[in-house]
Amino acid sequence: MKQSIVLHVNGQDHHLDVQTHHTLLWVLRDHLKLFGVREGCGVGMCGACTVLIDGQPVSTCLLFPSMVQGKEILTIEGMADNGDLHPIQQAYIDCFGYQCSFCTPGFILTTKALLEEHPQASDEEIREYLAGNLCRCGSYVKILDSVKLAQARLTEQKGD
Ligand code: FES
Ligand code: FES
Repeated sequence: MKQSIVLHVNGQDHHLDVQTHHTLLWVLRDHLKLFGVREGCGVGMCGACTVLIDGQPVSTCLLFPSMVQGKEILTIEGMADNGDLHPIQQAYIDCFGYQCSFCTPGFILTTKALLEEHPQASDEEIREYLAGNLCRCGSYVKILDSVKLAQARLTEQKGD
């Protein structure tokens, strides 16, 4: 069965006809071609499919699109500003906070939510906040370095 919905993704409204049993993960990838939303486990355990909904990280494999109509959805494709990478994206590049990068969009979006909620998070708080995101390449040390560099740069920006 199909339904018509409107999703607000990366600052734009999208009018879509979707199958009612398709997940938000499926719709973002298949209808909107936002392939930065990755399917890992498919059951809410790995964080690869993370997007921000009204600023909060959520697993899109666990949601139906109809549940998030009227909310702001941000994917990794919406992070850059007119081609300029977001400071968090740049920090992951500068610290080599990835290997294969399959998990990276989810980590970067969760980092954004973390640093907005807890700009001065400690190492322990960072580890705890990112615990729902798994990296099969084991890049955790570099990921922590990336978050701390982003934290330092964003703090400096705010002080300007
Ligand atoms: S694919 Fe959604 S949490 Fe793993
Ligand atoms: S960099 Fe490969 S899964 Fe994280």
